[in-house]
Amino acid sequence: VALGGAGAGWSAAAVALPAEHSDAPGAADDGATPYAASPGTSTVAFHGPHQAGIATPAQAHLSLLGLDLLPEVRAEGLGRLLTLISDDAARLARGLPALADTEPELATTPARLTATFGLGPRVMSDLLGSTVAVRALPAFRTDRLDLAWGQTDLAVQLCADDPMAVAHARRMILKDVSGFARVRWIQDGYRHAHGAVPDGTTMRNLMGQVDGTVNLAEAMPDFADLVWSDETGFEGGTFMVVRRIRARMESWDRVDRVGREAAVGRRLADGAPLTGTSEHEEPDFEAVDDLGFPVIDPASHIARARSADPRERFLRRAYNYTVPDPSRPSGEDSGLVFIAFAADVDRQFVPVQRRLAELDRLNEWVTTIGSAVYAVPPGAAEGEYVAERLLA
Ligand code: HEM
Repeated sequence: VALGGAGAGWSAAAVALPAEHSDAPGAADDGATPYAASPGTSTVAFHGPHQAGIATPAQAHLSLLGLDLLPEVRAEGLGRLLTLISDDAARLARGLPALADTEPELATTPARLTATFGLGPRVMSDLLGSTVAVRALPAFRTDRLDLAWGQTDLAVQLCADDPMAVAHARRMILKDVSGFARVRWIQDGYRHAHGAVPDGTTMRNLMGQVDGTVNLAEAMPDFADLVWSDETGFEGGTFMVVRRIRARMESWDRVDRVGREAAVGRRLADGAPLTGTSEHEEPDFEAVDDLGFPVIDPASHIARARSADPRERFLRRAYNYTVPDPSRPSGEDSGLVFIAFAADVDRQFVPVQRRLAELDRLNEWVTTIGSAVYAVPPGAAEGEYVAERLLA
């Protein structure tokens, strides 16, 4: 499936139902518009060289499941679990019911449903004895980690443009998981509803910022090198970093527009750099104002997040979260489920995160409260389950 770049929306081909399933309820396959019958029937292929839900332009809704294997589950049990949930994901992504689906009608509107499976460090090393290393991130001085949002054995990232599709897939997958693993956490997230803004519009986070302007997209020539691993036996896989980042909205409320824009280095109205007039214009970090001060503060988020080394880049695929929290004056806890994909986390992600922990004006309002990393195996071929080759 030739998905368009993150900034480019997605092509009609990417969402046309596979020919063998064009009889799925409500489907039309004229290839003329990305949404032939309705956005609900659009699909993203589960099978392929890479797992879906990574290069896939981000859907509107996220449910990220952190699972711990039961103590008695060994590699063979893990294989059975991955067989079951790969089958669920493949069927549901096509708009077909899962095996023994108790609510098959809910499967008919996949809305670009993707399921992406990740394996934690303990599973990769102890259970599978894999040479593919997935290491815990180093400690960063700004982290305030809560183990409740910490590393788990497995992660299942479910994304779709319809929260019903996500909820149904989650329920089907959790039913199969129950004999093998327990849920430690679920991180739900959202972006604008599909159709609320034109396709390809960069998302906004809850702080009001345009977030995702400078990012990797599949159409970029170096995307494959930066995202897909070429490690033997793991080619086409990648690594996922999950950071739960709380935004202190109560104190953000006290900052005026000038201060808010200075903290990031971009304008709130359109995401343009403070030295430019449009979102995708290159920021000029050398520009100074009449008094000789830099227009983009060297401590701003974009100045600190940008690396001089083009290899220190990765794919960001974040979602907003909001959960009730009666203990806070605002009544809610909100922020970002920050998800990043990189071929080499230590080389690409860690230096950037380290720099931000040292200095970033945004740190006054944002705190990382959860952190985990996963090896994301290559995609499964038709008839195969995810990670089958790692378990062989
Ligand atoms: C850029 C917000 C956390 C890495 C940006 C931009 C915003 C933003 C508004 C500018 C628009 C864009 O290019 O996307 C936030 C918020 C965060 C957060 C609100 C926390 C709640 C992080 C973290 C990392 C990161 C944890 C990585 C460790 C980047 C990078 C860029 C960026 C690499 C692009 C910089 C460039 O222009 O080259 N972020 N960010 N951000 N952010 Fe963040």
